[in-house]
Amino acid sequence: MLDKDPHQIRSMFASVSHRYDTANRVLSMRFDVAWRKRVARQLLPAPGRVLDLAAGTGDLTVDLARYGQHRVVSADFTYEMLAHGQLKVLERAPGAVQVAADALALPFQSGSFDGVSVAFGVRNFHDPLQGLRETRRVLRTDGALGVLEFSMPRQPLRFVYGIYFRHILPAIGGFITGTRSPYDYLPASVQTFPEGNAFLSLMSEAGFRNCVAARMSGGIVTFYRGEA
Ligand SMILES: C[S@@+](CC[C@H](N)C(=O)[O-])C[C@H]1O[C@@H](n2cnc3c(N)ncnc32)[C@H](O)[C@@H]1O
Repeated sequence: MLDKDPHQIRSMFASVSHRYDTANRVLSMRFDVAWRKRVARQLLPAPGRVLDLAAGTGDLTVDLARYGQHRVVSADFTYEMLAHGQLKVLERAPGAVQVAADALALPFQSGSFDGVSVAFGVRNFHDPLQGLRETRRVLRTDGALGVLEFSMPRQPLRFVYGIYFRHILPAIGGFITGTRSPYDYLPASVQTFPEGNAFLSLMSEAGFRNCVAARMSGGIVTFYRGEA
């Protein structure tokens, strides 16, 4: 069983925060840029108030402001991740507000947002169902949740990708950030995460309707969307 103790998760992300963006670009061969752009464009049909949850250094926050024209609140419980993204958010999404907050107990009133996005965050939540329930609580009726999360591709890509994901990625991630353990945790956490229909069921259990999943880049990531 993977340890998803919130203190451990926080210190893990704090330890790589200074090189987090660089590691993402290299490890995904810049595919992550297109993945977030799609979420930013497809979350809502019109500009609105969006909570970017588990926002980290704010890459999706910037895209939501830029491509969706949304007013964004960028929330994360690791101060170091927010701090390392602060200049970027200030420069590229000047209207966005950064907030330190725990996804499992959000400091927002019910129905405050038109949309909530979570990119590569839900997998790290101590209690994903509680996190989904909180996102639903802060969404207005008919508001949308968009979740971007890693998944495992099908064969034959699965075999080759598995070698990269489990052996090569941790070595490169460790080299770039100076800390290998978060990049060993990454494939382990993806393999134990309930992806596809299992995650859609979790969204339904949290009260979301019209839940759909779209696999991207051969199934390496999946974009889930549902309505409150
Ligand atoms: C892999 S990073 C993703 C950052 C960003 N969304 C992106 O696309 O690059 C995961 C983030 O989730 C945050 N996180 C994990 N559990 C959280 C929780 N319970 N509440 C708030 N943030 C959380 C971590 O601090 C970390 O910054």
